[in-house]
Amino acid sequence: MIEANEWITPYLEEVFSKLDGEDIVVKAAGYSLFAGGKRMRPALMHASAVMLGKYGVTPEDIAMYAGALEMIHTYSLIHDDLPSMDNDDLRRGRPTCHKAYGESYAILAGDMLLNTAHEVLLQLAVKGEKYAKASYNVSSLAGIGGMIGGQSIDLSSEEKKIPLELLYELQKKKTGALIEAAVTTPFFLSSAPDKIYDLLKEYADHLGLAFQIKDDILDVEADQEKLGKSTGKDERDDKSTFVTLLGLDEAKKKLNEEEDSCKRVLDCLRNDGLNVSDLEQLTIFNLKRDY
Ligand code: IPE
Ligand code: IPE
Ligand code: MG
Ligand code: MG
Ligand code: MG
Repeated sequence: MIEANEWITPYLEEVFSKLDGEDIVVKAAGYSLFAGGKRMRPALMHASAVMLGKYGVTPEDIAMYAGALEMIHTYSLIHDDLPSMDNDDLRRGRPTCHKAYGESYAILAGDMLLNTAHEVLLQLAVKGEKYAKASYNVSSLAGIGGMIGGQSIDLSSEEKKIPLELLYELQKKKTGALIEAAVTTPFFLSSAPDKIYDLLKEYADHLGLAFQIKDDILDVEADQEKLGKSTGKDERDDKSTFVTLLGLDEAKKKLNEEEDSCKRVLDCLRNDGLNVSDLEQLTIFNLKRDY
């Protein structure tokens, strides 16, 4: 499996090399983007492309999609940390963007990452119909039907006990949508049959859920230094999470169930003759991770 940070960083640097590096907004955006992070979404997109190799797609084909997705993800983190949202001080082992550059520049840095991602997606889209479909997949999953919609439900679910069904909708959009973009986008550049898309989507739904349950568990259990972001903040903000609604034990049980479901879907893909080993490793990584 690739080392995701090493793989994606040169592509992101190439995008940034065309921007005015003296501009404070560009500096603030680069501060958050190049701070590291797990690069889970680029890793998933790479793994999905490798798996679909026999259907004519390569990791090189999807690299700029992975870069655009990581820029969108980073913008979502910068805005998520703002005082008017989760009001956090620490991200990716550094002071949050607004702590380092001030709130106004942090807002613009997020805007810039989102816009630059769409410039990249549009440049790809004009190459032809399948590229346009792949771009639209990333773009729409980041929007109100996806990540932004999930953040909206998250904010309106503070300080109240929401029904479990709403928590599932919240997580599916807030976190599941960008994980889905990572896993399914290579399909649109491939010649794989629709049945493979359905399996990829099913896998992504389970992994997205497992990823957010793990995030909620780590907020309670992780070592802050290792995690690189503050812990205990979900309880502090009276957030609706899998831990606050189900309790820690039940959340862990649910995480294991979702991980098993991921493996079951990967077995189906393997039975279709696909090499699922990278996706398998990333699934296990999510279960075991402590950051
Ligand atoms: C954190 O995402 C926010 C969620 C969607 C749960 P990551 O855990 O992927 O954050 P980085 O990219 O590693 O910093
Ligand atoms: C944020 O979820 C998900 C995003 C879309 C950014 P959280 O608020 O739980 O993420 P962390 O815990 O601050 O990383
Ligand atoms: Mg949040
Ligand atoms: Mg947050
Ligand atoms: Mg969290």
